[in-house]
Amino acid sequence: MKDILERLDQRRHNAWLGGGQKRIDAQHARGKLTARERIALLLDRDSFEEFDTFVQHRCDDFGMADNKVPGDGVVTGWGTVNGRTVFVFAKDFTVFGGSLSETHAAKINKIQDMALKMRAPIIGLFDAGGARIQEGVAALGGYGEVFRRNVIASGVIPQISMIMGPCAGGDVYSPAMTDFIFMVKDTSYMFVTGPDVVKTVTNETVTSEELGGAKVHTTRSSVADGAWENDVEALLQLRRLIDFLPSNNTDGVPVWDSFDVADRVDTSLDTLVPDNPNKPYDMKELIHKTVDEGDFFEIQEAYARNIITGFARIEGRTVGIVANQPMVLAGVLDSDASRKAARFVRFCDSFEIPILTFVDVPGFLPGTAQEYGGLIKHGAKLLFAYGQATVPMITIITRKAFGGAYDVMASKHIGADINYAWPTAQIAVMGAKGAVEIIFRSDMNDPDQIAARTSEYEERFLSPFVAAERGYIDEVIMPHSTRRRIARALSMLATKQSERPWKKHDNIPL
Ligand code: HXC
Repeated sequence: MKDILERLDQRRHNAWLGGGQKRIDAQHARGKLTARERIALLLDRDSFEEFDTFVQHRCDDFGMADNKVPGDGVVTGWGTVNGRTVFVFAKDFTVFGGSLSETHAAKINKIQDMALKMRAPIIGLFDAGGARIQEGVAALGGYGEVFRRNVIASGVIPQISMIMGPCAGGDVYSPAMTDFIFMVKDTSYMFVTGPDVVKTVTNETVTSEELGGAKVHTTRSSVADGAWENDVEALLQLRRLIDFLPSNNTDGVPVWDSFDVADRVDTSLDTLVPDNPNKPYDMKELIHKTVDEGDFFEIQEAYARNIITGFARIEGRTVGIVANQPMVLAGVLDSDASRKAARFVRFCDSFEIPILTFVDVPGFLPGTAQEYGGLIKHGAKLLFAYGQATVPMITIITRKAFGGAYDVMASKHIGADINYAWPTAQIAVMGAKGAVEIIFRSDMNDPDQIAARTSEYEERFLSPFVAAERGYIDEVIMPHSTRRRIARALSMLATKQSERPWKKHDNIPL
């Protein structure tokens, strides 16, 4: 019996070495951890239960019959993050470059099926060279099985991808269908085809970093939702994100102890909005001063910075925050900002996370670049996402809410439950200058007339009270009471029910 136990130990030890010490050393030399080291950091200590440690590929071509490594390039199993179950797979770059074979795919499929059955989040740690070239179509079939499960699980359990090395070919499309993609700076890159193929097809010379590094995907393509300095920081931040997320679409948000009282007053908010309506201020200051302990996990921080999206808590419960940022492009809505916020709103609605919207928006960005780029359709994505959402929605207008952007940014008309405005709010079709130029065109040569008309317009329309008179705004509130108002509204809205007519699915303007 002792022999048998020792043999198991030995086999396990061999499996844990993956592609061997030399390749592990090479991984470390590149500043990357191994698959098992990453899992150990991501999960609670000693909570990992591994599956399929001894699975091997079945390929005989190209000398593969004599080249088998237990585990076949992916480590799979489950564990806990701060006590909550998650399923995980981590590509092992030391084994065939983490490439995906038929059996490697089957291991991931098993974890996907279990995560869905158990209604628990699934996390993929990527560091891989795409389809196992020696296996050909068997590997392509394997990818298809992974993709199909990504789609079925979408909106049921959170799916998160962390890119921690190369991620090429088939390995990019599974992350692309998950809820969030994060990257590690300098060591990870993602592309459908690498620099060599790009050179052959388009004659462009480009490095891996320039083609698909963390900077490109967090600032230009918006493929990635965030990036961190190294493996350790990335995995610790991932733990932080998981603490914000519900396990599935029916359990509701996790509840953590809050050390911040719900009725905390912050008088500095009374002077946050400058007297000059064209002067910017930092909307993140309002967010940090409103949420529990100032803890805000931003999504897509480096992309379309004219809108802010991210998770925070009020009274220990997660809320999704969408906010215009007056510091960037005056907080205007453009195509990129609309797409960014729409995707975030839909994530929150899928997983029953209440949405808090802070509004200071001068309108949609005019111009040919925006119109040719499809602003109408992209803006409609955000309109659609808010209109479709049935979760509790609270909106606070701090300053401008102009034109169509007023409607779009979680107005009462589009379905928000509670709409508050600060006394500094200006809810109107447009700013005073533009309005006067249009409706009093005949007075344009008389400066006195223009000044008089402008102040008349400002007095009447650039305030929250016209909207409040109609009930479009539920109450004009003191800025310092914002946190208390939100906390009270969220607790009242906790029992919200909202029925919609049956449909197979909607047709969001993609
Ligand atoms: C089999 C692979 C592999 C692959 C890497 N390896 N990619 N084995 N299939 N796809 C192996 C290498 O042979 C090597 O084995 C080890 O992994 C490490 O690879 P290196 O090239 O030495 O590492 P590095 O220089 O860091 O380069 C990493 C890489 C490069 C950029 C990922 O290996 C690469 O370009 N691989 C091919 C990428 C690719 O074209 N994949 C197919 C995509 S098509 P040894 O034994 O030497 O350690 C695809 C279609 C699916 O995925 C579409 C579905 C929609």
